[in-house]
Amino acid sequence: MTEEYTSHEYDVVVIGAGGAGLRAAIEAARSGAKTAIITKSLLGKAHTVMAEGGCAAALQNADPRDGWEVHFHDTMKGSKWLANWRMAEFHAKEAPDRVRELEQWGAVFDRTDKNLINQRNFGGHTFPRLAHVGDATGLELIRTLQERGIHEGIDMFTEVTVRSLLKEGDRVTGCVAYTRVDGEFHAFSAKSVVLATGGITRCWSVCSGSWEYTGDGHALALWAGAELRDMEFVQFHPTGMVWPPSVRGILVTEGVRGEGGRLTNSKGDRFMFDYVPEMFAGDHAATVEESDQWVEEVVSGKLATVRRPPELLTRDVVAKAINSEVKAGRGSPHGGAFLDISHRGKEAILAKLPSMHHQFKELAGVDISEEPMEVGPTAHYVMGGVVVDAESQETTVPGLFACGEVASGLHGANRLGGNSLSDLIVFGKRAGEHAAKRSTDLAQPGIDKSQVQAAIKEMIAPLERGEGENPGLIYDEMRNMMQEKVGIIRVKDELEQALADLKQFSLREQSCFPGTSRKYNSGWHQALDLKNMVDISTVATLAALTREESRGGHTRDDFPGHEDEFWGNNLNICWMEDGEIKIRQEPIEEMRDDLKETINEVKSMIAERAAEQGGEN
Ligand code: FUM
Repeated sequence: MTEEYTSHEYDVVVIGAGGAGLRAAIEAARSGAKTAIITKSLLGKAHTVMAEGGCAAALQNADPRDGWEVHFHDTMKGSKWLANWRMAEFHAKEAPDRVRELEQWGAVFDRTDKNLINQRNFGGHTFPRLAHVGDATGLELIRTLQERGIHEGIDMFTEVTVRSLLKEGDRVTGCVAYTRVDGEFHAFSAKSVVLATGGITRCWSVCSGSWEYTGDGHALALWAGAELRDMEFVQFHPTGMVWPPSVRGILVTEGVRGEGGRLTNSKGDRFMFDYVPEMFAGDHAATVEESDQWVEEVVSGKLATVRRPPELLTRDVVAKAINSEVKAGRGSPHGGAFLDISHRGKEAILAKLPSMHHQFKELAGVDISEEPMEVGPTAHYVMGGVVVDAESQETTVPGLFACGEVASGLHGANRLGGNSLSDLIVFGKRAGEHAAKRSTDLAQPGIDKSQVQAAIKEMIAPLERGEGENPGLIYDEMRNMMQEKVGIIRVKDELEQALADLKQFSLREQSCFPGTSRKYNSGWHQALDLKNMVDISTVATLAALTREESRGGHTRDDFPGHEDEFWGNNLNICWMEDGEIKIRQEPIEEMRDDLKETINEVKSMIAERAAEQGGEN
């Protein structure tokens, strides 16, 4: 029996309505392409809003010593030298223009005394670099792009989930989707498809993301034959809420530490001083006094010493330090650490961190202007994703582009905070531009009915089983398993066990039963999401098992150091063949000589500044 569906035709279809999707769609439409956005959620509900503290760009407003070169260096170093250097170069050079463009489009950034866009400190950034709107920067970015998008005449399909990509030979030619409200089916013919679906962190039970982050784009790409890289690198943001249980995982912006927040354990120790890795020793204050001096300089608007407090080490380091303190029995009452910003005073806190003040007051009954917060790591971001061409963002499958979190390359083993909002606008623009350019020479692809019917058949299969486990049970169990066995600290046995568990979850997913209704049936949506989550969790786990070293967002207790001899600068590349996930290693491309020189010059500059200001290197 064939099912009915509605057909649509576009030059460019963008899947996802976060910062990357909106920016891509704006650029495609501006280039003259007939453009649609398909989003499984509502407008304004993207994970982009969880990038609260700011957007990194070397605007040089807060510190003239900054520049694209320093941003490039910081991104490469933060990535533990695994980032795609070409993408890091584009990103560092283009981010300032993209931020200024947002301002022209109406984004209301916080200002300096000279009425320039203000910038705050974040971990791993040598200078204050994050353009921000209090602690709601992602929200303002989304608001601005949505308004701009409306004027570009983009068609919007909201609460519509894409389940498969259409292909003609090797080329992607559209997609098949269903409306979540009533289960109607839609087929889209598109000359180019842009994935901008965000991340995968819903695969872990403690995460900062909402229900949408089930790896849809990663899975669509994998199923369509594209390659994924770096999937073992998952960022556990050091500071999520830990109490009460109903809000566990909700983000506490790094902006708190950027504004001088101090981390302590149950003994009252500033424990981060004990966790400074050698590669970052020269960049960070060695004593509490030196660290406090930095805060004073920042607060009084002076050019601060380049040696920042150790609370501003990169996220991988801070998250692991909190984890270690808890394991050593020095955690806060609910299994985290204390984060205190009360020394900044109520006025500054309400001006700089109003959402955090509100969030803790409303959700935890804590007044952060008077008492510390309790915080702990939360799965926040995946550095890995679909392999893309640095310039065009085209994937290894022709006609399929990817940008933002679903794409890979810019962040290597660890992303610096604030580099995601700039990633979205820099590479969103590039993806939209190239997707539109690519579509100009192509005829409108036909919609292959048999591919559409096959996709629909797969979508309705769970509804026709008549009996089986409820998908919600499998969903919760799987997320707990990933948290336990593929969390911050990993070991071979547990990763092997996780792969075996995922095989069982896959079988259970294939026989679950969410009831029969296509209308308002969240169990059905979960049953479908589970398929992506199992496949993408399998990729992440296999990559984690294969990488026998600790680096950035991937820590192996059984391989604590860098295993340079074996791993060097190799990447894990994954793909799917006959339903099986495959993996191979590839060395990263050697950096261009002029960029190597840039890195060395920045290193010397930082060392000199640190020495001038009394630090040792
Ligand atoms: O902590 C934060 O505000 C998050 C920012 C980011 O992930 O870039």
